Parts: sequence; structure tokens; C-alpha cells
Amino acid sequence: MKDSGVDGRILELFRTGDGVVSGAALSRLLGLSRTAVWKHVKGLRANGYQIEAVPAKGYRLLSAPKILTELDISAGLATSRIGSSVICLKETESTNAVAFRMAEEGAPEGTVVIADAQTAGKGRLGRVWLSPAGVNLYCSVLLRPSISPMAACQLTFLSVVAVARAIESCTALKPQIKWPNDILIDGKKVAGLLNEMNAETEKVNFVVLGIGVNLNVRLADLGETLRHPASSLLEEGGVEVDRAAFTRRLLTELDQLYDTFLREGEGPVRAEWLERSAIRGRSVRVSQGAREFTGVVQGVDSFGALLVLLADGTLETVLSGDVALI
Ligand code: BTN
Repeated sequence: MKDSGVDGRILELFRTGDGVVSGAALSRLLGLSRTAVWKHVKGLRANGYQIEAVPAKGYRLLSAPKILTELDISAGLATSRIGSSVICLKETESTNAVAFRMAEEGAPEGTVVIADAQTAGKGRLGRVWLSPAGVNLYCSVLLRPSISPMAACQLTFLSVVAVARAIESCTALKPQIKWPNDILIDGKKVAGLLNEMNAETEKVNFVVLGIGVNLNVRLADLGETLRHPASSLLEEGGVEVDRAAFTRRLLTELDQLYDTFLREGEGPVRAEWLERSAIRGRSVRVSQGAREFTGVVQGVDSFGALLVLLADGTLETVLSGDVALI
């Protein structure tokens, strides 16, 4: 039997039963061991089902995942550009891939693609972004700024700062930014950004800002494939985050920041990025494939490159790679 079939039957048993279903009943009715039943319950939880373990009694389904809808996001969204069109999908390979294809077909600036789950969520440097259903935010925003391809990396400042602001506004947590595009709480990664662009030599055709935020995923469900110590806002703050409210806040912040960017350039947004940065003035180890070096972070240049002062006094401009605090 396929896993989804077992999961479906477990949910059916929850719904037809009255309240608590015992582990013994589940294992008998499904023809599975108690351990196998537990694994399926864990899998369902990872997909957004809140299932309570009632001591000495069994399991109780508290709530099913709530899928975000266009209406959830658009209702009351007072933005000028971002969210001009909102598309919510139940599942897709990657919202960035969907937004990219839509952009090639002429979708307007401000189009937002959101998925409840991603089957092939893309992380930086070809990595995978774990995207279980019902718990987090996976979102891509299409921009069509009239800027040069060089300047497009400045847009990373926008999405990082927007996520930091949204976290501050929706939780009591203090987010920190880690170059180039990570958001940390207490040293643990809770969000990642991946921008992809289509450009000619002189001009950008469009940019897709990919935003992944671990809102309500449980640590145990994050798996062991992550490079950084990872966490979620629920794990760090102990309070479940309303996904629709968080998304609306994020899009509102992004809209304001994009407006500032178009009117005044990257300066103000970069200043806020620097203020919130967790690594300014800190000693770091930079890894760029086989090359590794250490130094002290001086800041970022106007194109988003990290400026690292080496022990011999050289100022290194880091365009890509991984940075770890020493
Ligand atoms: C990283 O830190 O490695 C970047 C992660 C970016 C993940 C987001 S989730 C929404 C969008 N769609 C993707 O496939 N990736 C980005």
C-alpha cells in the first residue's frame, strides 16, 4: 500500500471515530505495527495535521492543515505593486519555477505565487529547500525593474529586510540577517531567499524573489539534510504563526521597500540591512568551494558583495560562498 493511502485511511478513521482512536485500533485496522502507525502519525504532523497523543488512550486529530487561498492573502492587502495578482497552489515543484515560467509568458510585475508544499523547493547553490505542507511559507514575487543586471543583486536586500520586518511585526522574536540571504533567530536559520533573474547584457527582463520562511514546522520534522542549524518561528517563539497574516505583512513590507528602492536607490534598504546584520565587525570563515579564508566583516558594497578584511590588510570582496562566524 502506498504511504499516502495509509495516511488517508488514518485520517478517515479519525473523522469517523468519536475523538480518540487508540494506537492498537489503528494498527489492527491498518494491518501495521504500532511503530509503523507512529511513523505515519509523525508524517501527517509534518504535513500540517495537528495530532495530539493522549496518554494511555491513543491519538486525536485536532486540526487539518489550512491551505492558504488567494482571498486569505488579497483581502485587505493595501499594496501598490506587490500582490497585483496572487496565485495559491496546493503543491508544486518550486514556486520560483512557476513564477519564472509565468514571467516568460508575460505575467505582470507584482505577481505572487504561493504554494502550500513544494516537491522540489530550490535553495541556494543548488541545494534543496525542505517544503512540507501546511506549516510554512513558500512564496515567489515577480518584479520587472528597469535596472542593469549588475544592480539586480541589490534586490536581495529587499526580500531579506522585508522578512526580518515581518517576523518582528508578527512575533516577539528578534531576527538577525546573515550574509547573503539567511535570517537567523538565536543563531538558527528560519528563512532563506533565492532570487533568480532573466536578463540581457544591458537590462533586466524580470527578477523572481523566492522567499521561504519556516513558520510552524516542528524541528523533528525538518529532517537532517540541512547544513545550518535550522528552526522555525513556532519552535523559537512557542506561538503558532498565522500564515495568512504573516504573508500579508511580508508583502506589505516588500511593497514599501520596493517603492523606496525605485525612488531612492538601494541606499536606505542597504543601511537597514547592515543595521540588522549579524556579522558586521565579526570574524568569519568564508568558504568558496575548495578555497577558504578568514577575516573580519566590514560591511557590504552597493551590489551586495561582502567586504572582508584579511589579516594582511587586504580587503576581499566576496560575491558568493558560505560564511560562518568564528
Ligand atoms: C536558501 O537559503 O538556500 C534559499 C531558500 C529559498 C527557498 C524559497 S521557498 C520559495 C521559493 N521557491 C523555491 O523553490 N525556493 C524559494
